[in-house]
Amino acid sequence: MGNCRYQLIDFGMGRKLESLAGHLIDRPSPSAKGQVSNHPSKWTGAAGVYDSGDRAWDHRVPWPNPLLIDCGAFEMPVRPTPYGHIGLFPEQFDNWCWLATPAANFREGQSALNLFGYTGASTLALAKAGYAVAHVDAAKQNVQAARLVAAHNQLNDAPIRYLVDDAAKFAAREVRRQRKYQTILLDPPAYGHSPKGKSWRLDRDLWPLLTDCLQLFEEDSFRLLVTGHSPDVNEGDVLGFLKQTQFLKRFWGSSGLLIEAGRSQLKDQEDRVLDAGFFVRVHSP
Ligand SMILES: C[S@@+](CC[C@H](N)C(=O)[O-])C[C@H]1O[C@@H](n2cnc3c(N)ncnc32)[C@H](O)[C@@H]1O
Repeated sequence: MGNCRYQLIDFGMGRKLESLAGHLIDRPSPSAKGQVSNHPSKWTGAAGVYDSGDRAWDHRVPWPNPLLIDCGAFEMPVRPTPYGHIGLFPEQFDNWCWLATPAANFREGQSALNLFGYTGASTLALAKAGYAVAHVDAAKQNVQAARLVAAHNQLNDAPIRYLVDDAAKFAAREVRRQRKYQTILLDPPAYGHSPKGKSWRLDRDLWPLLTDCLQLFEEDSFRLLVTGHSPDVNEGDVLGFLKQTQFLKRFWGSSGLLIEAGRSQLKDQEDRVLDAGFFVRVHSP
């Protein structure tokens, strides 16, 4: 990452200390539970502390406005949300680089679908690479914020469709319309709901959604990225499911199909690793 960097400083006791271009924040981190912090003294310097009990930030120093984080091909404004989020998932950095590197046979303007798009960072990585992107999220305010982030990165005229919709419903409709995408990514939460309140549960609903997504691919050129942050589903579950699908089983094990899977990670300054969920990347032969 560039000079206005994101840096994990320390973690432990179920919390993480992060630097956002020098603005230090202290917030909960489930995967830091049972871990011991390396630099207890550094936590006293936190400018913002999020309390998940009160769902509130204690801003000991005003949050800089704007506060911009360099993400390589684009910049993300970060802001404190009532849920302890900041408008950026830094563990997605490697995925942004992968998304921004299209396939050899890529044609400018090919379509990409970003389901559960939230901050829009992945949409920017794709748009910068020349994709026409459908950005789908159930939360209207998230979609509006993603649109503003694109404008901040001079991508207001880029071919990006911003859609407030239920991911499963949208994908099923695209199958009926026989629409095709070259790249599809999904980063679903463990629990969520559609704009109309229909519940989303990762361990129950991911599989039919993946089945629909695979029908949106052209056989000769496709890329799939699945990420998640829930203890209920991991990369092995996703690989096991994909392996037995009609669309992928004929390619599975063939030298052409590129599969990368593992844990998304954040590293502190001593390269201590904080787990940040799973990733699965599948790339056509
Ligand atoms: C973990 S976040 C995705 C983060 C995203 N990958 C990013 O880098 O910004 C999950 C998102 O899913 C959205 N969501 C939850 N249920 C949904 C549903 N049924 N359909 C579409 N989006 C949904 C939430 O509004 C939230 O923005």
